[in-house]
Amino acid sequence: MNDRPELAVLRLGHRPGRDNRMTTHVGLTARALGADRVIIAGDASEPKATIEDITARFGGPFGVELTDDHRRVLREWPGVVVHLTMYGLPVQELEGELRAEGRTAPVLVVVGAGKVPFDVYERADYNVAVTNQPHSEVAGLAVFLDRFFGGSELDREWRNATRRVVPKATGKELEPIDRE
Ligand SMILES: C[S@@+](CC[C@H](N)C(=O)[O-])C[C@H]1O[C@@H](n2cnc3c(N)ncnc32)[C@H](O)[C@@H]1O
Repeated sequence: MNDRPELAVLRLGHRPGRDNRMTTHVGLTARALGADRVIIAGDASEPKATIEDITARFGGPFGVELTDDHRRVLREWPGVVVHLTMYGLPVQELEGELRAEGRTAPVLVVVGAGKVPFDVYERADYNVAVTNQPHSEVAGLAVFLDRFFGGSELDREWRNATRRVVPKATGKELEPIDRE
């Protein structure tokens, strides 16, 4: 059994330009809340560069990959595929089962942008809803990751950062980190 589940996020349907900000936020949210990497389907070189820049400054490890064949990623995924969709079963009913799955197999969490092709619903081992109301892939991903990791992702330690935030009740402080 793994101590820490292996989890990647697959971002589908990225539209260059129009979705740059949302795709970047999918990646940053995945990184901040416990995922190991994000795989972005489509031409997302700008979001990739931004996520890599944040990782270089604030730490990792976290990977960013682009793919032009998301069906292959889904077909060849060696573990469990979780598709986040408002049409799925409630996350609060599935979270225990999904945590158990994550102890023995890598988890791929799929989020869309526009309309998600129906074969993704069929390929998914779990279609999971964070409420059955329409909202956002960033919000859905954040709630899912927190449920999946049970809050432990909030205490993650970061490696190879060049700076860190000093938590403060008021004001902003960043301190440099010496790497020797
Ligand atoms: C703006 S929505 C577009 C959904 C699109 N109308 C469809 O039919 O697939 C973009 C993404 O946000 C996520 N999402 C939106 N609402 C959700 C919910 N209630 N639960 C889980 N994920 C959700 C899904 O991953 C979805 O693909």
